[in-house]
Amino acid sequence: MATRDSWVSNVGFVLAAIGSAAGLGNIWRFPWLTAGNGGSAFLVVYLLIVVGVGVPGLLAEFVLGRLGRQTPIGALRSLTGSRWGSALGVFNVATALVLLSFYSVVGGWTLRYVLASPSGAYFDQPQQYFGAASHGLEAVGFHLLFLGIVAAIVLFGVSRGIERASKVMLPAVVLLLVGLAGWTAMQPGTDAGYAFYLGFDAEYLAANVTNVVGPAAGQALFTLSLGTGAMLTYASYLDEDVSLPRDTLVIAISNTFIGVLAGLVVIPLLFSQGIDPGQGGPGTLFVALATAFASLPGGSVLATSFFGAVLLAAVTSGINLLETPVGTLVDRLDVSRRRATVLTTLLVAVTGTGLSLAGSAFQFVSGTLADLLLSVGLFGFLAIVGWLLRGEAIAEFRAGAGRFAPLAEPWLLTVGWVLPVVVLFSLTNTLASLAGVSLGLGVRAIVAVVGTTCCRLAVTTRTDDLRDLQRSLRSLR
Ligand code: TRP
Repeated sequence: MATRDSWVSNVGFVLAAIGSAAGLGNIWRFPWLTAGNGGSAFLVVYLLIVVGVGVPGLLAEFVLGRLGRQTPIGALRSLTGSRWGSALGVFNVATALVLLSFYSVVGGWTLRYVLASPSGAYFDQPQQYFGAASHGLEAVGFHLLFLGIVAAIVLFGVSRGIERASKVMLPAVVLLLVGLAGWTAMQPGTDAGYAFYLGFDAEYLAANVTNVVGPAAGQALFTLSLGTGAMLTYASYLDEDVSLPRDTLVIAISNTFIGVLAGLVVIPLLFSQGIDPGQGGPGTLFVALATAFASLPGGSVLATSFFGAVLLAAVTSGINLLETPVGTLVDRLDVSRRRATVLTTLLVAVTGTGLSLAGSAFQFVSGTLADLLLSVGLFGFLAIVGWLLRGEAIAEFRAGAGRFAPLAEPWLLTVGWVLPVVVLFSLTNTLASLAGVSLGLGVRAIVAVVGTTCCRLAVTTRTDDLRDLQRSLRSLR
């Protein structure tokens, strides 16, 4: 077997991970969901979940990756010593393919907006323009173009293509967003937007927490690139002397900053244009900003740079989504990198085309379905780290962790109990609202706690039995 690529530097790893995390999830999906789910109520629940679930969950994926030293299927198989590990890995790869299918469609919209910005083609009738641009044959064309760019970068491999690209692209995204947020603050009619986004409304929050927790948890996972093994894959190229907890904090904080910043641009602008925040849907970003750019002197320059920055952020995340299945094919089936990239790209070209043509499927897949798949994937990772590996996971957490090392034990407790309960709770909420069943808060909480306990017992007794069996076999010999 060929030796594996590895990161040239830890900074390269951190930047690439931030590049994966910061993308359309922050700039397009986050403002859309925040506007559609009550503004500040969503923001509060989302931030709590990022801190309470996202950070320890990201650490769990990093630990799995560095322990496993392979892409998901192989890593999970060898770490669990069971076919269930490979099954979870296959599920993760399938999830990445589903995500990339809609991601590439939105990447295509972004690409189109970059090209249409210099002439201001969408300035006059933003809503109609978005309607026409977002579905149909032209949307298919831009989806394919975006996917082609991403595939070309993935072809060059881990350290060369991705590391170099991320280093250039990230600072540009942040600078542009800061500038735009500053400019937005000087616009008239934005007060209601800031109040909606940042004003804390405890009553609304209490009344809506069960509706908000599903999408907020899904968004927290999506934005941190959790639940598909994408981050696991990146960490599998990492050396033992790197501090996983420190890197996790840097990545989570930077990523959250970029999302909240994007909200500071999009939501006030939405309000200043008199658009009902709940009505935007997946078009929120494009319509809100188009209306604003149209009313500005020099709007077309501003628009070009903004959508250009979004496109760059989308490319780095798209690279990461494509890298999961490609890396898996290379590692598992010994397929050449080139052939793996071409095959995966062709598959996503087809599925993304389907989504560009079917608008209702698009909204379901990019919203609820993504939330569900990521939650299930993360639940699997938590089970492996928190229920099976335990001691090994603690040792891997501590390797290179320096002053964060004492946090290993409380972290494992969180990963083994608190996180599975929270993830199951949000899964129950999403499934219940999908099925149109209204369960009380108490019932959902009980389902989450009992479900976690049962899963944990099932997993741990099974492996304890296995260990006993191995022990008696050994003593027979
Ligand atoms: N986190 C990225 C974003 O916010 C999207 C993404 C890239 C992703 N890789 C992922 C989401 C892996 C889930 C899993 O745009």
